Amino acid sequence: MASAAILLLALSSLSEVFALTTCNVLDYGGVADNSTDIAPAIMSAYTNCVASATTSDAVDTVLLVPAGTYALVTAVTLTNVADFTIEIDGDLNLIFNADLSGTLFSFDDCKNIIWQGSGTIYGHGDLWRPDGNLGTYPNRPRLVRFQSCNNVDMSGVTLNNSPMFHVTIIGDNNVAHDMQIVADHIGETDGFDMSGNNNYVHDVSVENGDECVTVKTPTDGFVAENIQCFYSAGCNIGSFGTNVTGVTVQNIYYRNVTQHNGDGGIVLKSYPSASGLVKNATYIDFTFSNIAYPIQVSAYWCPNEGCPATTGNITWTDITFTDITGTGDNSTRPTIQLDCIEGFPCTDIVFDDVDLTKEDGVTATIQVTNACGSGLGSSLPAC
Ligand SMILES: *[C@@H]1O[C@H](CO)[C@@H](O)[C@H](O)[C@H]1NC(C)=O
Ligand SMILES: *[C@@H]1O[C@H](CO)[C@@H](O)[C@H](O)[C@H]1NC(C)=O
Ligand SMILES: *[C@@H]1O[C@H](CO)[C@@H](O)[C@H](O)[C@H]1NC(C)=O
Ligand SMILES: *[C@@H]1O[C@H](CO)[C@@H](O)[C@H](O)[C@H]1NC(C)=O
Ligand SMILES: *[C@@H]1O[C@H](CO)[C@@H](O)[C@H](O)[C@H]1NC(C)=O
Ligand SMILES: *[C@@H]1O[C@H](CO)[C@@H](O)[C@H](O)[C@H]1NC(C)=O
Repeated sequence: MASAAILLLALSSLSEVFALTTCNVLDYGGVADNSTDIAPAIMSAYTNCVASATTSDAVDTVLLVPAGTYALVTAVTLTNVADFTIEIDGDLNLIFNADLSGTLFSFDDCKNIIWQGSGTIYGHGDLWRPDGNLGTYPNRPRLVRFQSCNNVDMSGVTLNNSPMFHVTIIGDNNVAHDMQIVADHIGETDGFDMSGNNNYVHDVSVENGDECVTVKTPTDGFVAENIQCFYSAGCNIGSFGTNVTGVTVQNIYYRNVTQHNGDGGIVLKSYPSASGLVKNATYIDFTFSNIAYPIQVSAYWCPNEGCPATTGNITWTDITFTDITGTGDNSTRPTIQLDCIEGFPCTDIVFDDVDLTKEDGVTATIQVTNACGSGLGSSLPAC
């Protein structure tokens, strides 16, 4: 036991040991008293230590938030930064503030950054959602955003109950892996929202009430593997907003995903006023239990005020579902629904070894409108 504990301890400080420079927030005004705002200390450690110490290798320079309990009162915003590791081993508690908006950890124009650590960021999101009301503080803050960032490697740090979305990554060649998100089962708590080229999410688990690991436009090349979702709205593409033009999402690959209790499994969704093309997406080895819409491709996905007029031409093509099993929920909603725009049908939608039933012995149904492909027998016409 003792040697295992020592080994774990040694492993958790490896990056510190190997770093050429460690910039410890405790040396830059940080106090682990759960009340002093840690954000200015993080910014100061960056400006006064990290910035002048970086080499071309991100592991050489570590901005360290050591174990301890900290308050997070304001946002950390780092713009035009590169080549360092931020290691959060402490627990951060976001302090409620009705005026707080934007993103708490916001990286803009960045590259070659490692985000890691054994800590947890507690967003205390319930305080911004009194009685589950999402409208009380509509501008409430998000947790982590990498915008125009390339070669980010994000792992470790657990994200707990953000007031809004948890992780947004926009850029190329970024990886998020081996981390956990745990939030209330309520909307606007997205796990991972990804866009850009050649991004990769693997070995993560998300418990929330909205997107699990979702792709936004524009995207060319995305892989997700070994994903667990609980109470989520699914591993999705979209939505892209109303009236959006030029949607381009292509070359998407998901493998080995389990989803328990949620609104959506694989939901490819847009408003009928959106235009553009989604093509070449592959979904392999999904296991569902109690999911309201296990597989849905819908150009008429319009959650709030209903659908606007069909002014768009969004098309979905070359989408393959392979080895998908499990259950839809106990409602009469279809287990598979394809609902596309007349004149712009969904084409080459391929089902291979898809075996979905419903909870409580409800009969599974399939609904197809303006789509063609194979693998659903007479339910889906050939193209
Ligand atoms: C730190 O403060 C938060 C409230 O901001 C509280 O929820 C949490 O329990 C405190 N943690 C510790 C270890 O005192
Ligand atoms: C599937 O993902 C789970 C984690 O969700 C992992 O434990 C398992 O090893 C993965 N299986 C394969 C074949 O990759
Ligand atoms: C979308 O376009 C329609 C028709 O041009 C317009 O009436 C509507 O206000 C637009 N919606 C948004 C959210 O911009
Ligand atoms: C489709 O996407 C996959 C990645 O999922 C890629 O390997 C493959 O080359 C793409 N196919 C075409 C025709 O671009
Ligand atoms: C789809 O709509 C967009 C935006 O209105 C337009 O530029 C494009 O030419 C349309 N494509 C097709 C195939 O109709
Ligand atoms: C359907 O499932 C919900 C929870 O998922 C449950 O509350 C409800 O009792 C179930 N209804 C039936 C008819 O089994």
